[in-house]
Amino acid sequence: MSIQLVTTVAGLHTESARLLKAKQGTSQGLVPTMGALHEGHAALARTAVENNDVVVASIFVNPLQFGDAADLDRYPRTLDADLALLEEQGVDLAFAPSVEEVYPGGEPLVRITSGRLGEKWEGASRPGHFDGALTVVAKLLHYGMPAAGLPAGSAGTAGGSLPSYRAYFGQKDAQQLALVQRMAADLNFPVEIVGVPTVRADDGLALSSRNRFLSDDERDAALVLSRALRLLEERANAHEPLDLDSALAMVESQPLVELDYFDVVDPGTLEPLAENCRETPFRGEALALIAAKVGPVRLIDNVPLSS
Ligand code: PAF
Repeated sequence: MSIQLVTTVAGLHTESARLLKAKQGTSQGLVPTMGALHEGHAALARTAVENNDVVVASIFVNPLQFGDAADLDRYPRTLDADLALLEEQGVDLAFAPSVEEVYPGGEPLVRITSGRLGEKWEGASRPGHFDGALTVVAKLLHYGMPAAGLPAGSAGTAGGSLPSYRAYFGQKDAQQLALVQRMAADLNFPVEIVGVPTVRADDGLALSSRNRFLSDDERDAALVLSRALRLLEERANAHEPLDLDSALAMVESQPLVELDYFDVVDPGTLEPLAENCRETPFRGEALALIAAKVGPVRLIDNVPLSS
């Protein structure tokens, strides 16, 4: 079946309800994106398609989460290619609204606040970014809710219960994923938030819509990020001390890479685990986070550590 494109919230509700009914579906998945899709997004879409009867992917470049107007302007817009990629994964509906459709009254006066969890790491370098991202994610989660388009009084599925609802986010944006999970839990959103593992190029670089802005030299230099993370992963797997300082020195020795942060943190709170990552053998669960500017591009990456 070919993918359907809708651009209004009303169209999304009508079509997703129609599809759920036609398929006698019991579950709906949402894949929020900003377009410029790559194999990482394809993995999100595939996971959603494998686990839900109806899958909606949204494509919306959210002005609220860009601090810099130039960055917003140059964000790649590739709708035709995006639709083709989503269709290949079996996505049913693409929702690509205009800015006016999402923010009909202009920028919202009331927003989601990401709190302490959103102020560190990416939040420290990009003030307001996570408030903007969470605000649109909250709206998208509401738009994509499976019962939203069903007639009033309808119980939903044939069995009478409401369809289950899942939304898919990449683990590459670890802080965003942690924040969306907290938002859904803290504010009782009726949705399961699913994290999907990072997809990497053969040389280890984490896929990102921004990689296309790297020159060949910058791309080579950027590989030090995933190499340094892999080093920590190998040490954790071998129950060795992580020796974060030596991994840090490796990144700092690359002249084209301007390191922002590199640390090992608790996966839930994102607080640094300073004591556990230097001389003593690593034990437990953690996340190694890294961010750097390479040429014109800010790159982030992370790996889960477990020992
Ligand atoms: O990760 C992204 O692409 C965006 O931050 C999201 C979740 C689609 C919200 O605009």
